Amino acid sequence: MAGAGWEGADVTGSAFRSPFIVLIGLLFYGAIAGAQDKAQAIASTARGNKFIGSVACKECHDELWNSFYKNPHHKSVASGREPPENTGCEGCHGPGDNHLESFGAAGSIVSFTKIPKRQVLDVCLRCHSQTLSRANIRRSSHTLNDVVCTTCHSIHNAATPQKLLAKKQTALCEGCHLNVRAQFSMPFKHRVNEGFMNCTDCHNPHGSFQATWANGARPRHVDTAKANEEPCLNCHADKRGPFVFEHAPLRVDGCMACHVPHGSANSRMLTRPVVFTVCLECHNGAGNMGREANGVRVQAPTPHNMASPVYQGCVNCHVKIHGSNADLRFFR
Ligand code: HEC
Ligand code: HEC
Ligand code: HEC
Ligand code: HEC
Ligand code: HEC
Ligand code: HEC
Ligand code: HEC
Ligand code: HEC
Ligand code: HEC
Ligand code: HEC
Repeated sequence: MAGAGWEGADVTGSAFRSPFIVLIGLLFYGAIAGAQDKAQAIASTARGNKFIGSVACKECHDELWNSFYKNPHHKSVASGREPPENTGCEGCHGPGDNHLESFGAAGSIVSFTKIPKRQVLDVCLRCHSQTLSRANIRRSSHTLNDVVCTTCHSIHNAATPQKLLAKKQTALCEGCHLNVRAQFSMPFKHRVNEGFMNCTDCHNPHGSFQATWANGARPRHVDTAKANEEPCLNCHADKRGPFVFEHAPLRVDGCMACHVPHGSANSRMLTRPVVFTVCLECHNGAGNMGREANGVRVQAPTPHNMASPVYQGCVNCHVKIHGSNADLRFFR
């Protein structure tokens, strides 16, 4: 058994080797006829090992057992309706008979601190693969870098009873992402370090779908909100539109065309220190730009005399820069 996930073992050919599994099933779980077969089939998956029920663990691991009723995973015990392989301690640690018989000999039961990281993922996903986003976890950069369930979650010693996190969220994430902590200390920032917001307001640490903005580039675990939108719109709903006059980059490129998400030395968390330099990245006079494909004429005699400081404050005139229902040029 050492180093082997119990669920990976041979399922075929041994279904009826241990007839009294059915009895145990009946005693502990009140299994009905249909469930018996299933319980038996799966119980025998780990050859020569059997499920014995969580109560048996209490004997020697009373400390863990006595606090387990507070754990969300206790539900499977309380309900009494789950098959043995999905119940209580053995739902994660696998069948405990060999372990019991050997009085806890090393290697007789699954230990999450000893099995390879990827195998931890397999055990947890057996039950937690329902949501697609989490199924995507196998392709996420966390998984690819061996950051798995038990790196972030602690089943028996959680710092937060909810979600069973190993540490409080911000500390957990910033513990590895030190540069991000620094970004949230910049003069203009979202107040994450202050505790008003969480990383998970924008990210899904389990992975992400291909983003629908910015041509699907760089998802960065960025969560998609309702209607495949950027998560920013969960809070900044006034930027959602639809507007009669859209500013194209909002929908096409996304907020990050002009803003940085975490924090910045620039006011309004803009990508550049001065507003007009942000605009001129696109409105640079090229003749195929703008609704009339006439570009932005940035020299006199048009209104835009870039030599004049007046015209450098683009958003002083184009105030509805995220889109307008009243004016083609975003004046109001
Ligand atoms: C007869 C006593 C006994 C029973 C019953 C028992 N254990 Fe253990 N268990 C031990 C001993 C002894 C150890 C090794 C010493 C230690 O680390 O506490 C151990 C270690 C473990 C380990 C770590 C294994 C390793 O290789 O590091 C896990 C996980 C575990 N037990 C889970 C369970 C579960 C789940 C049950 C119920 C199905 C259970 N135990 C029932 C005595 C028992
Ligand atoms: C949801 C999955 C899950 C359930 C249910 C669960 N455990 Fe654990 N157990 C773990 C993980 C993961 C670890 C590794 C330490 C950690 O992350 O907290 C662990 C660690 C342990 C250890 C310490 C040995 C080691 O490898 O560090 C023992 C003993 C143990 N569990 C026994 C139990 C008992 C007894 C129960 C039932 C009361 C139980 N576990 C229920 C997942 C689970
Ligand atoms: C990089 C850290 C990290 C990893 C790796 C991770 N989680 Fe999470 N998980 C979190 C955080 C943070 C939350 C809390 C999200 C919140 O508060 O909204 C969470 C929430 C959850 C929840 C609660 C429901 C939900 O979706 O919010 C479940 C269940 C869960 N994780 C299971 C898992 C499983 C299973 C794995 C491995 C397959 C895993 N997690 C890997 C950080 C992680
Ligand atoms: C046998 C099935 C099963 C296995 C295996 C399992 N879980 Fe769970 N898990 C559940 C159930 C059921 C819940 C309770 C969901 C609810 O509250 O409705 C739960 C809840 C959780 C939660 C808390 C969600 C919340 O909203 O607070 C986390 C975190 C979690 N599991 C992580 C893990 C991790 C990490 C592993 C692997 C070490 C794991 N689970 C293995 C069935 C399982
Ligand atoms: C154990 C260390 C560790 C923890 C804890 C951790 N991460 Fe990561 N994270 C990594 C590594 C390693 C990578 C991949 C390498 C990289 O891009 O820096 C990564 C990548 C990321 C990425 C970039 C994904 C990409 O595609 O570029 C995001 C976003 C992220 N993590 C968010 C989080 C959040 C949110 C949390 C807390 C819930 C968290 N991380 C917790 C280590 C960690
Ligand atoms: C306001 C929303 C928001 C919050 C809150 C947030 N992020 Fe991000 N984060 C983003 C977006 C959007 C990106 C993608 C930027 C891009 O496209 O380059 C990103 C990118 C990242 C990256 C990849 C950066 C890179 O350049 O590779 C990491 C790592 C990361 N975030 C970690 C975190 C952590 C850790 C937290 C919490 C401490 C956090 N983020 C909170 C929105 C957010
Ligand atoms: C959980 C809600 C929430 C989410 C999600 C969110 N924001 Fe914010 N945002 C705020 C709040 C609250 C403020 C006000 C600043 C503060 O915290 O003091 C703010 C401020 C801002 C500001 C103005 C900063 C200033 O100096 O006035 C910009 C720009 C911004 N957010 C852009 C974004 C972008 C881009 C995203 C997506 C990557 C995003 N926000 C996601 C809540 C959110
Ligand atoms: C074309 C560039 C551009 C894009 C794309 C953009 N913004 Fe802005 N945003 C600006 C500028 C410029 C300001 C500063 C306006 C000012 O100072 O009057 C600003 C200001 C803000 C502010 C603070 C002032 C206010 O109006 O509430 C928030 C919040 C904000 N943007 C959120 C967003 C969100 C969310 C998105 C994505 C949906 C987004 N922005 C996309 C250019 C942009
Ligand atoms: C990422 C590229 C990009 C950035 C940055 C950008 N824009 Fe635009 N903007 C566009 C595109 C593309 C259009 C054309 C919209 C269309 O054809 O419907 C447009 C349209 C406009 C219009 C309406 C033009 C017309 O012909 O009616 C105004 C006004 C405008 N932008 C002002 C600004 C200002 C001010 C800034 C800086 C705060 C800015 N833009 C930043 C891409 C950008
Ligand atoms: C003093 C007010 C004012 C300022 C400041 C200003 N504009 Fe304009 N902008 C206008 C007016 C007026 C028009 C309409 C011109 C027309 O109808 O020919 C306009 C039109 C536009 C258009 C539509 C295309 C065009 O050339 O007609 C774009 C794009 C634009 N401005 C971008 C910008 C950018 C980028 C900045 C900052 C570098 C800026 N504006 C600063 C007043 C201003």
